[in-house]
Amino acid sequence: MILSSTKEKLCNKAIRRAVEVVASVNSNVSLKEKLDTIVRGTARSLASGTSLVLLDTTKKKLIHSSSWALPQPYLRKGILDADKSLSEVITGQRVVIADAARDKRIQYPDLAARAGIVSILGVPVMSGLSPVGSIRVYTKQRYDFTNQDINFVVTMANLASIALSQSQQNQDVETHTSPLRQARSVTFANPSEKELARILDFYNIEWVYEPRSFALSHEGNKITEMFTPDFYLPGLDLYIEVTTLKQSLVTKKNRKLRLLRQLYPDVKIMLLHKSEYANLLARYGCGPLAHVRARGISRVLYSSAQIEEKVQILAKQISIDYAGRHPVMIGVQRGFICFMADLIRQITIPLDIDLMTISYYSGSNHSSLKITKDLDLNIANRHVIVVEDIVDTGMTLVSVLNNLQSRNPASLAVCTLLDKRMHRIVDTPLDYVGFVVSEEFVVGYGLDYKEEYRNLPFIGVPAIEKHRLKD
Ligand code: IMP
Ligand code: MG
Repeated sequence: MILSSTKEKLCNKAIRRAVEVVASVNSNVSLKEKLDTIVRGTARSLASGTSLVLLDTTKKKLIHSSSWALPQPYLRKGILDADKSLSEVITGQRVVIADAARDKRIQYPDLAARAGIVSILGVPVMSGLSPVGSIRVYTKQRYDFTNQDINFVVTMANLASIALSQSQQNQDVETHTSPLRQARSVTFANPSEKELARILDFYNIEWVYEPRSFALSHEGNKITEMFTPDFYLPGLDLYIEVTTLKQSLVTKKNRKLRLLRQLYPDVKIMLLHKSEYANLLARYGCGPLAHVRARGISRVLYSSAQIEEKVQILAKQISIDYAGRHPVMIGVQRGFICFMADLIRQITIPLDIDLMTISYYSGSNHSSLKITKDLDLNIANRHVIVVEDIVDTGMTLVSVLNNLQSRNPASLAVCTLLDKRMHRIVDTPLDYVGFVVSEEFVVGYGLDYKEEYRNLPFIGVPAIEKHRLKD
């Protein structure tokens, strides 16, 4: 709430805070520090509680990243659903709530009331045109936010967008961690939790550490027993409590879990023993076998579940676009094999498949394409879709397309699982793209490094030093 300051004082204070925040965003401190400074600067300028939440990769959950001057119990409310908590923010709009107790846009009105929160302002944090989170300002008395207040918070949200996009640019080069992870600094209570976090990171599974405390018993109005599960996995909407071998602890935890399930039937939670990590990971297609085969891989870029979801989307679109046209799908070289096998089984219209292999001639003054195994089908007047694992420089694809074009197909389109756009030398339109990847070399799901790794069920980054990749 704006206390007794005159407008002029507020203005000076806000400018001073803004200068501090800009200096922080411009410096090379961590993303977490930048976001903390933004939130603190907002809270102090407006003499209010402030928090910053970020969307997880499913874009369905809001994960708390920084806060200032908000009571602990309110912060421990846990993960918010993007469509239930100030949902307009996630469509890119500002939200002003005059009275939290009477407003349906609040997900946990009782917790807000208990924390003494009355008015709320929510402003989106954007990445380009898409919202990626929001800054929320909370007051303890009913307060009408002025245009000046709102503009100030919008400026802070813009600075948060800049900080996030800076860390996004650094993501693959330096840290390999997503902004959402960088925005949290976590201190684990014990080594097994740290180990599970490391494994989840390896498999590119989003996690949040101890985001929510559940009240298990009350005496009157007072909470007498709480339970805080170790992890929450937004992708599975699942809480995880990690256990050690000690049976006495397991028994105690089992009792708490039973109670939690009774009191919160919608909450999914599992007690995970160290020896059971593998079972959990198997749900992501990263089972024990994959773990063995993943030797030499530094991290998973796309799990088999993520690939499967993407393949379904592409297949659905192709089925719609080519209805009644009986296309021919053509794979080139070997890398397409997993992708094409999965893709065609999700396509619901009749189709033909064929394949060709090529090599390059390097003549004295030009190089050209040599076909080492040609198509069996005649593609004249047919609707052709070339299926690629990855388009990198674009050289292979363009020469193949030129060759196919000379056979007079009715139409010619390209469907590639991966698009390494930054490496493009010769450009050509790609009609269907699974994932846009950075410059990193990737293997698995058909892609190889010197013929190795093609049989990995996921796409990963090999732990090969950069200079070796250039051989
Ligand atoms: P382009 O002619 O440079 O577009 O070459 C594409 C081919 O290079 C693909 O079909 C792959 O065989 C190979 N390639 C490019 N990038 C990668 C990668 O990151 N991993 C594995 N193979 C790759
Ligand atoms: Mg290839």
